Amino acid sequence: MKSIIDFIIGLSIKKEVNLFMEVLNVKNLVKIYNAYKNAKHVTALNGISFSANRGDFIGIMGPSGSGKTTLLNILSGIDMATSGEVFISGKDVCLMDKEELCYFRRKNIGYIFQDFNLLDSLTIKENISLPLIIDNVRASKIEKKVSGLMKFFQIQDLKEKYPFNISGGQKQRTAAARALINEPSIILADEPTGNLDSKSSSSIMETILRMNEELNSTVLMVTHDPFAASFCKRVIFVKDGQLELEISSKGHRKSFFDKILETQSILMGG
Ligand SMILES: Nc1ncnc2c1ncn2[C@@H]1O[C@H](COP(=O)(O)OP(=O)(O)O)[C@@H](O)[C@H]1O
Ligand SMILES: [Mg+2]
Repeated sequence: MKSIIDFIIGLSIKKEVNLFMEVLNVKNLVKIYNAYKNAKHVTALNGISFSANRGDFIGIMGPSGSGKTTLLNILSGIDMATSGEVFISGKDVCLMDKEELCYFRRKNIGYIFQDFNLLDSLTIKENISLPLIIDNVRASKIEKKVSGLMKFFQIQDLKEKYPFNISGGQKQRTAAARALINEPSIILADEPTGNLDSKSSSSIMETILRMNEELNSTVLMVTHDPFAASFCKRVIFVKDGQLELEISSKGHRKSFFDKILETQSILMGG
């Protein structure tokens, strides 16, 4: 197992000259949705700034309508900011044209969705390989990377199976492997425990934690779930499109969980 991890980390070190570099920098981000007809404009983000270094694991929490999805959509290039800057690995994504952004996203951002978004008509191995196939990567290189990640996530026996033939936990690990295949600078996760029971929630959070701790992946996760957030190193609370408060973990998940609950009740009470 050690050699696989060394292999994956080794690849990342080659790509990122400085291991401790700033991976994400969000500066004064504003998003105003222009409403139709006579309705009012909606300020979904009202000047958010924060940054993430390599190896960070950040949770974004906040009440419904506070701008979490808008933030994630802008970071991932699905939506455009009204003003402000987003630097991912030092590159301003707001300045890229559509084609540039498409390529940059595929290379630099890994996604974990609420429902995992696996393609039913592809095998597990093909699902994980897809981002590399799109980029015409050599078959031998794809084989090497995919089998390394499948071993890491203990799904190597599922290679030729299809998503409908594997369990929920196996689907999650497949999605995690696919998110990592391009050695992205950052993993964006949108409510990964959103539709899951508590056992599956633990399992996906353990998987994301392994990505963060053992592979030094940088993770930004939007969640309304204090249990999921308690796996993070930092949690940023947003309200009305603004950064309200940030708390950090001291390393004990249970006490961080309590701190998150306490902060939530204070912020809601206030
Ligand atoms: N496409 C849109 N057009 C107009 N308003 C929107 C649109 N998407 C979101 N909003 C509004 O922006 C605010 C933030 O929404 P959102 O980012 O979805 O919040 P959250 O994910 O925290 O629930 C809300 O007031 C929402 O109604
Ligand atoms: Mg949302």
